[in-house]
Amino acid sequence: MSKVEQKVAVVTGASRGIGAAIATRLAADGFAVVINYAGNAAEADALAGRIEQAGGKALSARADVSDPQAVRRLFDAAEAALGGVDVLVNNAGIMRLATLADSDDALVDSQLAINLKGSIHTMREAARRLRPGGRIVNLSSSVVGLYQPTYGVYAATKAGIEAMTHVLAKELRGRNVTVNAVAPGPTATALFLDGKPQAVIDQLSRLAPLERLGQPGDIANVVSFLAGPDGAWVNGQVLRANGGIV
Ligand SMILES: NC(=O)c1ccc[n+]([C@@H]2O[C@H](COP(=O)([O-])OP(=O)(O)OC[C@H]3O[C@@H](n4cnc5c(N)ncnc54)[C@H](OP(=O)(O)O)[C@@H]3O)[C@@H](O)[C@H]2O)c1
Repeated sequence: MSKVEQKVAVVTGASRGIGAAIATRLAADGFAVVINYAGNAAEADALAGRIEQAGGKALSARADVSDPQAVRRLFDAAEAALGGVDVLVNNAGIMRLATLADSDDALVDSQLAINLKGSIHTMREAARRLRPGGRIVNLSSSVVGLYQPTYGVYAATKAGIEAMTHVLAKELRGRNVTVNAVAPGPTATALFLDGKPQAVIDQLSRLAPLERLGQPGDIANVVSFLAGPDGAWVNGQVLRANGGIV
């Protein structure tokens, strides 16, 4: 890709985990990447540095996706620094597990604010601003399908993201912008691993017929496909990437 035609991808929640792998992969694919994060400036800056070191273009940008003004500023900053936005990877998310009976207000509100409202904020800006040929890739989860106990509120936020994926794909008729979701299964990041006993991790790792945990790179490969030329005809779909768990 020459400098003139370099496309720009905004990846939310890209300081760590799956988002960091996606930003790294999209940079290797030739995109200039905006590495959004909420609090972890050091990790986001270090990732931007590694991408630049490898010959790519990256900038880190703090924005809490639950704050609509901050999301507007994130897109403003991307447009000002890089000339426009072609791809949104809507990846920022949190997971708090409890039965519905034990879900307190903070658990409910934080997941609705970051996962669901955050996705609405970023999709809304992308719907207004993405250039023709653009792509929106939303991160859902295979818990939509598995529906295990304690995942109720989290699964509800992801089911909402899948619903908006289908609706927005149709609303963007005529714009040449696709909207899809990727739904990972258990993937080896802090979000999945933190707080789980090793026995539970081992058991969940064996659930998929491929008998291992997903790695962030497995998910980045799928996002790369949807964001790149080979994914151009896929629109309004949810692609589960989970080793066959559901
Ligand atoms: N890991 C899994 O097993 C799995 C499975 C299915 C789906 N997913 C989904 O995949 C996505 C990435 O998950 P992950 O496992 O990579 O999580 P992770 O390792 O916990 O990383 C989460 C990322 O989101 C950012 N973030 C959190 N709250 C934010 C906010 N309010 N505004 C902006 N950024 C925020 C974090 O930034 P800071 O570093 O600044 O905190 C971090 O970069 C999530 O949507 C998750 O639901 C994960």
